[in-house]
Amino acid sequence: MNLKKKIIAANWKMNKTLPEGEKLRNQVLEGLKKIPHNAEPILFPSFLHIGNWQNLYNTTPNPPIALGAQNLGTEPNGARTGEISAHMLKSAHVEYVLIGHAERRTFYHEDNNSLILQKLQQAQQHNLKTIFCCGESLEIRKSKKTLEHLQKQLEPLKNLNNIHNPNILIAYEPVWAIGTGLIPDVKEIQNINTQIRKILHEIYLLPKPYLPFLYGGSVNEKNAQDILTHVDGLLVGSSSLHAEKFLQILAATQHKT
Ligand code: 13P
Repeated sequence: MNLKKKIIAANWKMNKTLPEGEKLRNQVLEGLKKIPHNAEPILFPSFLHIGNWQNLYNTTPNPPIALGAQNLGTEPNGARTGEISAHMLKSAHVEYVLIGHAERRTFYHEDNNSLILQKLQQAQQHNLKTIFCCGESLEIRKSKKTLEHLQKQLEPLKNLNNIHNPNILIAYEPVWAIGTGLIPDVKEIQNINTQIRKILHEIYLLPKPYLPFLYGGSVNEKNAQDILTHVDGLLVGSSSLHAEKFLQILAATQHKT
């Protein structure tokens, strides 16, 4: 990960057929050649695409987009129907994984720190960079318990406190901002960044190396530039499903460092 660049991650979630995904990926690759930017783009397509994109690595050893997986299994291998292991991902040129995404926490009941820790350990053991997602619901926000909630969500990371360079990026994605068109004020995002650092360094005693801080939730081509002034990167959902919009978000990094 290049910290002089802004990290722009596209979470495609459960979208795009094989031909649609290949088309979108190629549009992004082509577009990147034409637009000025200072971005490190990462695409998180579904597992299906990851398997299908190996041709890219055969023809282009260092493509200008990194590949990420939206999830990974808790075990190294074996009888876990429907799961994909860190080792398998690593063999398919995957560099990044998402852990703790709000949709996995909500729809698949993965708001469980011991399960999240197992995934983190798998990612660490296989040298996968982790985008660790956290964020509060509207209810928690209204009851002013956001920091307490984030502290609980971040707890699995304390187990990495003896690792000098844990290869973790934090993505703050408030649940109430995902897919709603609502976003927090940039001052609030900055404040959360500061608070998360305090939790990680002062309470969970994570070593000081800089942990990149991403924001996600209703990021689009219009608000990207403003948010980017305050964060190290963005995790983009629906706006990453349209090449034009995603390329505009990448272009918004042009004068950002
Ligand atoms: P949207 O950009 O669609 O709000 O999704 C954000 C997200 O969940 C990215 O991981």
